[in-house]
Amino acid sequence: MSEGIAKKEEKPRKFQAIRGTRDLLPPETALWNRVEQTAHEVFATFGFGETRTPIFEQADLFARAVGGETDIVSKEMYTFVDRLEKLPDPPTLGDYGAFIEQAEKLMATEELPAVPGNRLAIERMKRIWDQGNVLGTAGESPIEKVDSAVLEELYKMVVLKDSMELGQSISLRPEATASICRAYIEHGMQQLSQPVKLYYMGPMFRRERPQKGRYRQFYQIGAEVLGGSDAPAIDAEVIEMVMTFFDRLELQGVQLDINSIGDRNCRPKYVELLRAELLKVKDKLGPDSQRRIETNPLRVLDSKLESEQGIIATLPRIADHLCEECAAHYAAVKHQLEMRGVIYRENWRLVRGLDYYMRTTFEITAQGLGSQNAVCGGGRYDGLVELLGGPPTKGIGFAIGEDRLILSLQESTSSLSASGKAPAQQGRDVYIAWMGERAHATAIRAAKDLRKAGFSVELPPVEQKFGKALGQADKLGAKYALILGDNEVSEGLWTLKTLADGSQQKLTEPDLLTFLKREKAKADPSLRSG
Ligand code: HAM
Repeated sequence: MSEGIAKKEEKPRKFQAIRGTRDLLPPETALWNRVEQTAHEVFATFGFGETRTPIFEQADLFARAVGGETDIVSKEMYTFVDRLEKLPDPPTLGDYGAFIEQAEKLMATEELPAVPGNRLAIERMKRIWDQGNVLGTAGESPIEKVDSAVLEELYKMVVLKDSMELGQSISLRPEATASICRAYIEHGMQQLSQPVKLYYMGPMFRRERPQKGRYRQFYQIGAEVLGGSDAPAIDAEVIEMVMTFFDRLELQGVQLDINSIGDRNCRPKYVELLRAELLKVKDKLGPDSQRRIETNPLRVLDSKLESEQGIIATLPRIADHLCEECAAHYAAVKHQLEMRGVIYRENWRLVRGLDYYMRTTFEITAQGLGSQNAVCGGGRYDGLVELLGGPPTKGIGFAIGEDRLILSLQESTSSLSASGKAPAQQGRDVYIAWMGERAHATAIRAAKDLRKAGFSVELPPVEQKFGKALGQADKLGAKYALILGDNEVSEGLWTLKTLADGSQQKLTEPDLLTFLKREKAKADPSLRSG
């Protein structure tokens, strides 16, 4: 059978997780579950409902929403062409007529991307093909008359695919705000009572240079508020919700930075001013910032380069250039945060790396993360839904980097007690040591009943001597060993050994359950009933 899997001549190959991706294993996954469970609980108390969108979408969705010039879209997306099955492929010489006809049909239904490149290619092919056909005379196959150089060109265009996109361009999602907006539009959620509050959790993909806290597949827990008004209380409540969540997890060293980056009225003027000021000091800036003077001057403010810090400190600040409405909105957001007891720091350099933001932006850092210390980022994005073909809609949200959140929780001492070790990872409640066929049947039934009552049970699959079984129970960190042999089964009295002190007692089946439940309640008072 093994021959079927690996051919004789082939050496067995060792596979590894792809760079920038990793396996999450127990016991760590218990902490992930605890974090996610806490998010479900906290977000529900703020009236948010869970959403699950696909992990891949049309590449163009992200290009439009996040911005074609951003690092995320221009360098970091995993994009591939989802090839059509329906197109004759590759058109063997002579099949071009069928190919063209089919391509036109598919473009009409948008199954073949109706992008300018494809339209142009089909038009050109049609022209050449028609020309070739005209050359045909009665009785001859028209194709024989098509000039061979022309055929060559057709061949290059179609078979070598150098001018056609034979399928949709699809990207693994680098973030989920764009997907949520797409879903909002697609499901007509503007018809629901506004605003609509949604949250999500799941993997995102960015082709970044991997390092501590930065992965190519990473996880986000995010929330978005769509529709309704742009009342500053909405901004403040969204921020309050993340802070409540972090508080519940006892995340250490939490620092909230906020800023306003203005809107369509005031930001362009500020960006021009910034560009003009940056041009004056261009020679003193590094190559990245020099390039950004042209592409996106705001991102220069993000620079961590030591040599640029002095220069950046002298640049004009957006807070001084907000229009009246944006300034009032920003002031009100701050007031609303204060009313909620949320402590913040204003950071005029906080501009964020995605294009859709306007007005409120925020970022949260936590301890123990080194250079990748942003554990949450978010902001307001009125207009994004409209940009994606929906009605004018307000929007604000955030995404938490779950990997970083977990790292920070693991590194802070207070989280040691809350390290999320669920019973299944800490050990087992009960290890069932059984010997003999009759005892095996009883053991299977006992395991079923104990598990039903919520206990974690290890039932060895094969018979073991009691000594070995008890050793195994110890290794797994079991609290109790339930010993079932012939005697126990005939008497209906089961032996329960407490592994911590070695004490043993004989119990009937119902008494065993009562005893274990009572002991569990003693250890965890929250389980005590009445
Ligand atoms: P973002 O700032 O790009 O915003 O990402 C949010 C968080 O995801 C970051 O603060 C970080 O914790 C985490 N993160 C980003 N890239 C990586 C990576 N390569 N490895 C590990 N963690 C990472 C957004 O994604 C926006 N969609 C947030 C948002 C929602 N704004 C409004 N609504």
